[in-house]
Amino acid sequence: MEKVVSGIRPTGNLHLGNYFGAVTSFVRMQDDYDCYFFIADWHSLTTHPKPDNIQQSTYTILAEYLACGIDPEKSVIYMQSDVKEVLELYLYLNMNAYLGELERVTTFKEKARKQPDNVNAGLLTYPTLMAADILIHRALKVPVGKDQEQNMEMARKCARRFNNIYGLDFFPEPQSFHFSEKAIKIPGLDGSGKMGKSEGNCIYLKDDAKTIQKKVMKAVTDSGPTVPCSPKPEVIENLFTFLNIVSTPDTVQYFEDKWNDCSIRYGDLKKQLAADIVAYTEPIRQRIEQFSADRDLLRSVARRGAEMATESAQKTLSEVRHIIGFR
Ligand code: TYM
Repeated sequence: MEKVVSGIRPTGNLHLGNYFGAVTSFVRMQDDYDCYFFIADWHSLTTHPKPDNIQQSTYTILAEYLACGIDPEKSVIYMQSDVKEVLELYLYLNMNAYLGELERVTTFKEKARKQPDNVNAGLLTYPTLMAADILIHRALKVPVGKDQEQNMEMARKCARRFNNIYGLDFFPEPQSFHFSEKAIKIPGLDGSGKMGKSEGNCIYLKDDAKTIQKKVMKAVTDSGPTVPCSPKPEVIENLFTFLNIVSTPDTVQYFEDKWNDCSIRYGDLKKQLAADIVAYTEPIRQRIEQFSADRDLLRSVARRGAEMATESAQKTLSEVRHIIGFR
C-alpha cells in the first residue's frame, strides 16, 4: 500500500481550516493507504520556543484527531518528538539545503516579519524538517491545505537532490493530496484571506453552538448587491465558500438565487451558516470531550504509534546511512 504522511502543529486547538484543509482527508485516506499522522511538536518550537505545556498541547491534538475519526487501528498516530530518526534525516537534508532557497520561502519571510526578534535557524530550516517528516517514511502522498504548497515543493527538491547526489532513485517525490480538484483554502470570516491561529480568526472544532453563532454573526459583509447577478466581493465569496462546504446544495442554491436577484439578507445567511457549522461540529465536540478525559487511552495510542512510526523510520534511516557511506 502507498504510504501517506501528514502532521499538524500543536499550537492550539484544531480549527475549521485544519479540519477541512487536512483532517477530513486523513480520515478518508486511512482505508486505502498506509497512513502516518503525527503531531508536529518540534515544529511548534520555531514560533513558540517556551511552550506553556507542550505535553498538554500534544494530547489535545491527539484527542481531537481521534474525535475526528482518525482510527489508531487503521493509522499510525504519533508525536513527532517520539521518532528521533527524523532528526538525523533532518541533519542530512540540511547539508544539501541552501540559504538562498530557504530564505525565499514565503512562510519564512512572513514569520520573520512577525517575530523579528526570533528569526531562528529552526524557522529557516522549517521546510527541511517537514521534508524529513515525510521522507523518513518514503511517503508518496501528503494531505495538506493550500498554504503548504511551497513547503511541499521543498520536500520534493530535498528528495530529488538526495537521489541526484548519491546517484540512485531512493526517495519518491511526495505529492500534496486533496480529494477536491484544487487544494483547499478555508477563508477567515473577518475579511482576512485565511483562517489561521496567528490570524486570530478561527472557529474551533471544540467551540460550542453559542460561540460559533457569535463568531459567524460577526462575519464581515458589505452593503449588499444592487445589480442582479453581479460578481461577489471577496468577503461574500468567503461566506459562500463555507456554505458550499457545510450546507446542502439546496441551501446554497437558495442563497445564490437571493444574491442574484439582490434580495439577499446577510443575517439570514449567517444564521443558516452557523446552524450548519454547528450540525457538523457538535458530534465532534462531544467526542473531543470524551477522548480528552481518557488519558490512559491517549497514552496508549501515543505509545503504540511511537513504536510503529519508529520501526518504519529506522528502516529508511539505516538505508540512508548506508547510501551516504556510514557503516
Ligand atoms: P499547520 O499546523 O499550520 O496546519 C495543519 C494543516 O491544516 C491546514 N490548514 C488549512 N487548510 C486550509 N485552509 C486553512 N485556512 C488552513 N489552515 C491550516 C494546513 O495546510 C495543514 O495541512 N507545516 C505543517 C505541519 C507539518 C507537516 C509536516 C504537514 C510539519 N511536518 C509533514 C505535512 C507533512 C503546518 O504548519 O501545518
